[in-house]
Formats: sequence, structure tokens, C-alpha cells
Amino acid sequence: MERREFIKNTGLICLGCIGATALLQSCSNAYYVQSAFDANKLVVRKSEFTEVKKDKTIQHTFVLVKTDTLQAPIYLHKFSDTDYSALLMVCTHKGCEVNPHGEYLICPCHGSEFSIRGKVQNPPAEQNLKSYTVTTDNENIFIWII
Ligand code: FES
Repeated sequence: MERREFIKNTGLICLGCIGATALLQSCSNAYYVQSAFDANKLVVRKSEFTEVKKDKTIQHTFVLVKTDTLQAPIYLHKFSDTDYSALLMVCTHKGCEVNPHGEYLICPCHGSEFSIRGKVQNPPAEQNLKSYTVTTDNENIFIWII
């Protein structure tokens, strides 16, 4: 192998490792909960934001709500005990599933970025993510799918 080819191959391997690490980091914080419909709403217990692992308690700022019927999970972000945002994780550009990454939801297909309130931050998407009305009681979060 010639020196130039070696450097090129090594560089590509390094880029691949960096990309894989970034992908794993963005997925490692994702915490899925399963929810079923109760009439026209999904019910998620507030306690789902608290995960107990061995002797550690983790407070999640968001959970991904899976259902049997929606085409993608719902990104449910907790701003306070009574303030949540619920966003369908389908990019409004061409329909790819977006990924949570820090304070943004990023589309892996063409790079659109959305805020955790669902607002477009970077194109090519032009429309905000589909959002749902959220209400709460003392123990539960209700996502209204109408
Ligand atoms: S499908 Fe998401 S940016 Fe194109």
C-alpha cells in the first residue's frame, strides 16, 4: 500500500469511528416507553421520566413514546411538571424519522433540524414537526391524538 492510499484509508476509518460514536451518543440517551391509546389520547406515567438502574436514579428530560399504531415514536420532552411538548418524530421534509440530539431533533436524511418545541431551525424542512396537545394530572401525562 502506498503512503497516500494508507493516509486516505486511515482518515476514512477515523471519520467512520467519529460518526459511529456520535450516533451511539445520540441514541444512548434515548429511553423508550410503550403506551396504548385510551380513547383518543395516549397516557404516560410521569414516573417514566425517572429510571432506576442498579443503585443509580436517572432523571430523563425526554422519553420516546412508542405505540402500535403511529408511524414513528412521539418525542415527549419535560420542561416542568406541567409543561411538556409532544412531537411526532417524522421529518416534514420527506418523512424520515428524526433523532434527538441535545436540544435538537435532527433528520439523518438531509440534515433538517428542529427545536425541542418542534420549530424548524435549519432547512430543507419548511414546516414544524407535528405536535400534540399535552395535559397532565398528578400522576399522568396525556397526549391528545386527534
Ligand atoms: S427527510 Fe428530513 S431533511 Fe429530508
